[in-house]
Amino acid sequence: MFNKTRIPSTLPHYYGRRLLSRRNNFIRLTLAALLLLSSFYFTILKPWVESDDSRIISKIDSSTKNDASDNNSAQKSWKINLNDTINSRVSVFNKEQFTDEAIKKNGLIPVTAVLIGWKRMESLQVVVNFISKYPYIKEILIWNNNDKIRLHKQDFRLNNTEVRLKIFNSDENLHDLSKYTTCAMAKYDYCYFQDDDWLNLYMDSIYTNFLRYPNLIHSNTMPIIHLEHRRWMFSNNDKNLHTGFTWLGCGSFIPRIKVQRFLGQIGLYSLEKERLRLVDMYFSLWTNQYPYQLSNPLTTLDQSEGWSNSVDQWAVVYGNILDAVQKLYTALAVNTGSEQFERQEEKPYYLDRDVRTPCINDKCLFITNIDPFPQPSSVCYANNITHVREHEAEFNALDFPSNEFWNKHAYHKAVDLDLNTCWNSFKKPKVDDYFGLQFVEPQNFHKITIVSSKDISNFDISFIIKSSLDGQNWRICDKISSSEKIKFSSIIPPNHVVAINFNCDIKKKNHESLENLENPENMEYRYIKFQIVRNFTEPFEICSLILDGLSV
Ligand SMILES: *[C@@H]1O[C@H](CO)[C@@H](O)[C@H](O)[C@H]1NC(C)=O
Ligand SMILES: *[C@@H]1O[C@H](CO)[C@@H](O)[C@H](O)[C@H]1NC(C)=O
Ligand SMILES: *[C@@H]1O[C@H](CO)[C@@H](O)[C@H](O)[C@H]1NC(C)=O
Ligand SMILES: *[C@@H]1O[C@H](CO)[C@@H](O)[C@H](O)[C@H]1NC(C)=O
Ligand SMILES: *[C@@H]1O[C@H](CO)[C@@H](O)[C@H](O)[C@H]1NC(C)=O
Repeated sequence: MFNKTRIPSTLPHYYGRRLLSRRNNFIRLTLAALLLLSSFYFTILKPWVESDDSRIISKIDSSTKNDASDNNSAQKSWKINLNDTINSRVSVFNKEQFTDEAIKKNGLIPVTAVLIGWKRMESLQVVVNFISKYPYIKEILIWNNNDKIRLHKQDFRLNNTEVRLKIFNSDENLHDLSKYTTCAMAKYDYCYFQDDDWLNLYMDSIYTNFLRYPNLIHSNTMPIIHLEHRRWMFSNNDKNLHTGFTWLGCGSFIPRIKVQRFLGQIGLYSLEKERLRLVDMYFSLWTNQYPYQLSNPLTTLDQSEGWSNSVDQWAVVYGNILDAVQKLYTALAVNTGSEQFERQEEKPYYLDRDVRTPCINDKCLFITNIDPFPQPSSVCYANNITHVREHEAEFNALDFPSNEFWNKHAYHKAVDLDLNTCWNSFKKPKVDDYFGLQFVEPQNFHKITIVSSKDISNFDISFIIKSSLDGQNWRICDKISSSEKIKFSSIIPPNHVVAINFNCDIKKKNHESLENLENPENMEYRYIKFQIVRNFTEPFEICSLILDGLSV
């Protein structure tokens, strides 16, 4: 059952602080401008929307590979000293890869970060310093909504001189809307949104997933909110409805084209000011696409200014979600050539998405096709509900994991460097189900150690190992030997651990393709998966994966 007291108190500050401002003349003016902008969008920019969505990531130069010595990450990130974490995190990407000439060839994407200033100036400085370490953040735009404080470039001692920093001091608090108007001004085609009350420690891994599917919104949230969002998905095949809700403030990559289109939608609907302040709740829903959301433990910065107990945030959130979905549904149901909302569902379709969570060390992503939640299309939204809870109830009536289960067994528990916490598949794995990793940098590991909470001494014969450089073309790796006896740890029984040596080299597999022998790139892979060859009678649990020296 849905129980709102279980939702962590860190959530409602997202919108709580935005319920408090008064005037809206400036907003009206902005909207007039937006209307203009939207007609511009439909005539000039629209063709882009249909453009190719499958940008291929070319090989990214390998830089240092010293994972094993990264002892800092051997603890849970949310418990360790934040300063140490911030200082120890470095991007595997480097600035030479993001020069204008380089990006023409390597397929990498430069990004504009959009940050909103309100009260927490120190946190904002932390965020600016942190994200500027990541070379794909080529521009940072700060919109300061607080007219009592004026911000200047010198307030942010940027180490990275490659980053263009611009600050806009607003006389008016534009709330959520300022994210979108600021992103619309970005130099680059993609924006990165982050609030100043979170630190996203998974920049590289989320960026990696974004590079593969840059057309989608890529967001990041804690497991219990992910569970929540899995019921805030709205599908109706006949009406071309296929959308989902996400918060954006914990680190999201967003196509600017979607933001520009959204500004047009806001203009057309003349949302009343109460709603305009909270347009975050409309944005992802009105893209009419399921956002690509990863689930992981978040790291909080100071949140003291965020919380507002004076309003019933749940009523506001539910009210806005329903309003957004009803307007979307109604517009889609009118079968004119209406162009306000995208009708076509973008790829990859929800069923085909298998990236679930960043590894806690930000070097990889955990992938699996085994999704414990019902597909969004298993509940049909017919625009006849009066409260989102009715929609939630339909999901709950399906085989929906409980909050307790998910808190204990969410995906990231497989890759959190903690042997005692485990991802549980929830469903009984079937033939061809798989789990595995996508690496931020291509790798060539030859040994995997899998740690479970159960007896897995027969586990190695239950799956085959496959590797891939592009995530499309897979090859089967040779298993060389299995289950040596491992004394892993005094607390983990030996039959809970399985170690497998394998070889994914083309050299071994394909003697005739001699040219591959000369090319070491063919030995490396970006994806590895363990594909199941028998039906399991029980769900399984993975607590940790260790590849050569890399623990996750
Ligand atoms: C991590 O630190 C601990 C204690 O400081 C040490 O025993 C261990 O060998 C270190 N691990 C690595 C991989 O450096
Ligand atoms: C972290 O760094 C900030 C400024 O760099 C400093 O004010 C703060 O005391 C540090 N915190 C810890 C726990 O070291
Ligand atoms: C900036 O660089 C200096 C010197 O390299 C270093 O000591 C400092 O920690 C850096 N600051 C940040 C915020 O990265
Ligand atoms: C809404 O419409 C659907 C399909 O027409 C129907 O199955 C469902 O019972 C209706 N729900 C309500 C609350 O009217
Ligand atoms: C595994 O289960 C699926 C359906 O659950 C079934 O279709 C398939 O035949 C089974 N395969 C084997 C090898 O038992």
